[in-house]
Amino acid sequence: MRKLTNVLVTGGAGFIGCNFIRVLLKKTPGFTGRVINLDALTYAGNASSLADIDGEFGGKRYFFERADITDRERVRGIFQKYDIDTVIHFAAESHVDRSILGPEAFIRTNVMGTFTLLDAARDLWRGEGGSMREDVLFHHVSTDEVYGSLGETGYFTETTPYDPRSPYSASKASSDHLVFAYHHTYGLPVTLSNCSNNYGPYHFPEKLIPLMILNMLEGKPLPVYGDGKYVRDWLFVEDHNTAVWAIVNRGKSGEKYNIGGENEWENITLLRKLIGIVAEKAGLDAGKVAETITFVKDRPGHDRRYAIDCSKLKRELGWTQSVTFEEGLSLTVDWYLSNKAWVVNVKSGEYAHWVEKNYTAR
Ligand SMILES: NC(=O)c1ccc[n+]([C@@H]2O[C@H](COP(=O)([O-])OP(=O)(O)OC[C@H]3O[C@@H](n4cnc5c(N)ncnc54)[C@H](O)[C@@H]3O)[C@@H](O)[C@H]2O)c1
Repeated sequence: MRKLTNVLVTGGAGFIGCNFIRVLLKKTPGFTGRVINLDALTYAGNASSLADIDGEFGGKRYFFERADITDRERVRGIFQKYDIDTVIHFAAESHVDRSILGPEAFIRTNVMGTFTLLDAARDLWRGEGGSMREDVLFHHVSTDEVYGSLGETGYFTETTPYDPRSPYSASKASSDHLVFAYHHTYGLPVTLSNCSNNYGPYHFPEKLIPLMILNMLEGKPLPVYGDGKYVRDWLFVEDHNTAVWAIVNRGKSGEKYNIGGENEWENITLLRKLIGIVAEKAGLDAGKVAETITFVKDRPGHDRRYAIDCSKLKRELGWTQSVTFEEGLSLTVDWYLSNKAWVVNVKSGEYAHWVEKNYTAR
């Protein structure tokens, strides 16, 4: 049986990680263990997103460690300090456009950082006699972008060959290969998930959906790449996280699982849908907002379509999505409308100082 008592969440101050920790500590009654959030707090890390969690669980079941996953000594020290038995590895450089401008950080964090964590787990999870413990697990969170681009039909399955095409997806593909290499070579218990595009609360405003919501509210232009006909599958972030938790609990070691929304949209259609929701909730004129759509120069090497077959996860682990796209978008817009302080904090850069000002190491 897996222990799941001292769970190391890497990248827990990022978009998906902070939602994951909140669900785990507040909405998962079966889980009574401790969560250790290891995050370097890069520009994408915002520890204030977990201020409420820190207040309620800090020093008891929630611990924050500011550390870089490429720092071998710190990583090993944290494993030992908390007697880690489960790793859920979200930490990454995650923005495709940034990977095109500066790929090096992606190779460092996504490849070297994953290697550093795997190597610590391998060394520290050896039991007596040198054999690997069986009550531990390393879960790696990855993306559907490792599979490359699809034409108008077809879906990525768990057996689709890897064909990454951006520095981001190539670095994630490398990390996926390392995870399975540690399983096959050293017997490390691992699971892996490849998920489609997430959206929801606490999403950094450089990503499509929060960028558009905030630009609409501020009366700014709505930039759309190329012809706007790029197709992505969208999943509400809480549904990604319940899938990860299902895999961590019941997934088979050595297996990978696709996670998706079964919810494909062309960017331009998504945007028109979002304009309708934002306009209604914020009292704007949808027609006028739509006039601010601006087609901009395409991203180099832009993958045309991603679509994911998540039937293995549904069939084997009984997971399913909990909200429709309309419901998820509506919840997201409500969140941005009622959390303006969070947005101001991010846009002003103030969020970068939250830890120094508010967190006392325990
Ligand atoms: N966002 C999506 O739509 C999506 C979809 C599929 C998979 N994923 C994967 O999910 C994971 C989380 O994505 P996200 O959108 O929450 O990312 P994010 O960019 O919002 O957060 C990443 C977090 O990792 C931390 N981090 C970065 N480099 C680090 C380092 N060297 N050491 C320690 N911490 C570091 C950052 O401070 C940040 O808190 C990533 O692995 C990503 O590849 C994301």
